[in-house]
Amino acid sequence: MKEKRGSWSSNLGFLLAAIGSAVGLGNIWSFPFKMGKSGGFTFLIIYIVMVVFVGLIVMVSELSVGRRSGRGVVDTFHMLSEKFKWVGWLCVIASFLILSFYSVLGGYCLYYIIINAAGIFTGMPDSSSFTAMLTSPLVSIGVLVLFMAICTVIVRGGVSGGIEKFNKIGTPALFAILIIVIIRSLTLPNAVEGLKFMFKPGYAVEGGFISEAPDFISVLGIAGGQMFFSLSLAMGIMVTYGSYLDKGENLVKNAGVICIADTLVALLAGVAVIPAAISNGLASGIPVSEIKLNGPNLLFCTLQDVFCSMGAIGGIFGMIFYILVLLAAISSAISFMEVLITHRLDRVSALGKKPNRPRVTLAFSAAVTLLAVLVAACGLGANGIAPADLLGLKDTAAYAAWNDSWLNFMDFFSEGICMPLGAVIASLVVGWELKPKIVLDEVHNGCNSRFFDSFFTFCIKIIVPIVMTFVFAGQLYDFLACRGFAAAKAVCYAVTIAVLVICAVIAVIPSEKSKKSK
Ligand code: PHE
Repeated sequence: MKEKRGSWSSNLGFLLAAIGSAVGLGNIWSFPFKMGKSGGFTFLIIYIVMVVFVGLIVMVSELSVGRRSGRGVVDTFHMLSEKFKWVGWLCVIASFLILSFYSVLGGYCLYYIIINAAGIFTGMPDSSSFTAMLTSPLVSIGVLVLFMAICTVIVRGGVSGGIEKFNKIGTPALFAILIIVIIRSLTLPNAVEGLKFMFKPGYAVEGGFISEAPDFISVLGIAGGQMFFSLSLAMGIMVTYGSYLDKGENLVKNAGVICIADTLVALLAGVAVIPAAISNGLASGIPVSEIKLNGPNLLFCTLQDVFCSMGAIGGIFGMIFYILVLLAAISSAISFMEVLITHRLDRVSALGKKPNRPRVTLAFSAAVTLLAVLVAACGLGANGIAPADLLGLKDTAAYAAWNDSWLNFMDFFSEGICMPLGAVIASLVVGWELKPKIVLDEVHNGCNSRFFDSFFTFCIKIIVPIVMTFVFAGQLYDFLACRGFAAAKAVCYAVTIAVLVICAVIAVIPSEKSKKSK
């Protein structure tokens, strides 16, 4: 028996859920730092150009192929492409791997909400609480399980009954909390230094935060990788969310709103986080170059010191801030879960059986939690079970980002390989194997204007594959960069260009099926 597939109850519900997926940890901690480190305003311009020429195009493609097929990402690619049927699997694998560390970070947020709340009464914890948490695997695992349990309850409720409901409250709440945190941050002494770090080109070097600026190609790679991650692209999420969308909705307008909202939140999050971190660093007299503005350190050490320095009131701000990060993390994590779950439910339904969402949800979250326990127990490499420890690479030239912790290892395979590779191939499938018309026909369902057509065709055929190749190469290099291996960059670029050329050739050769149909 075929069960009726779920759908969004309104376009606004869809938009809030898609924005909820896009706005996540990527906006709150990596965007501000990457922007400051890679040239401030210059980075912002490159980022925005990429959002328009690549992000928007890929988002429209994903939403439209999803809506066209009305199925999960694996089935969508099966239906679309003769030669690259398997690309859908790259998305599912990437979602699974990313969720295995995203959930650990989500658990850390829960822990920080608890310790800040307790700190109001018992004295505020400082940044040393981070190491204490990392080195107590049971605590990290406990909060991870709690985080996954929350997400499971939401996703179990279905697309409109769970995900949409959560985001209708969560996404507006996130905006409101962000404003409170911005006001607090900008009223701290020397906050203007943080604004200069973000918005004044070259200030990161001039002010002594970093010793030299990265070259243009690296900036392109950094901005591209960040944009893909931040907009939740190449992971099957927009395909999945699009598959629940009504035929009459305007996909270009929806994609535009999601891109603008995501970029805006990234900028606002920067203004909330960076000035506070720099202000506190300057007040405590440490050299500027030692103010930690990146990754877990920024969120859980640098900012915790800011809250700690405010005394008991810091506990309240700390709690509010980590609730903000938690909301962002939950709305993104549930979108990863939905990719896995929609895929399974559609399969079951295609076999003529009645899909059981609660059971499938529970099974997937149990599987993800199992893998995530390894990431949590590793404690960002603090507990001696990182891949480098197990492979004996610790003090060797091969000690690099891909092996220094299980978190980075998962990140390497998902964000570093599956995601850019999937994006390159998906753009070749749409641009060259099937031709852009397949997307445009779907787009015209909800929008009569032909204004977007030539822009889309040019970008999906040329710009997206080329830019994504650079991003792929840059990510590969970033993760693999082994000390003392000078040729690493050239090798990464050669490998990725070869991949692009091979895939492009495969995409344009007519398949047996299309020859027969001629
Ligand atoms: N966009 C989310 C963020 O910025 C992460 C994410 C990536 C979510 C891919 C879903 C898919 O943190």
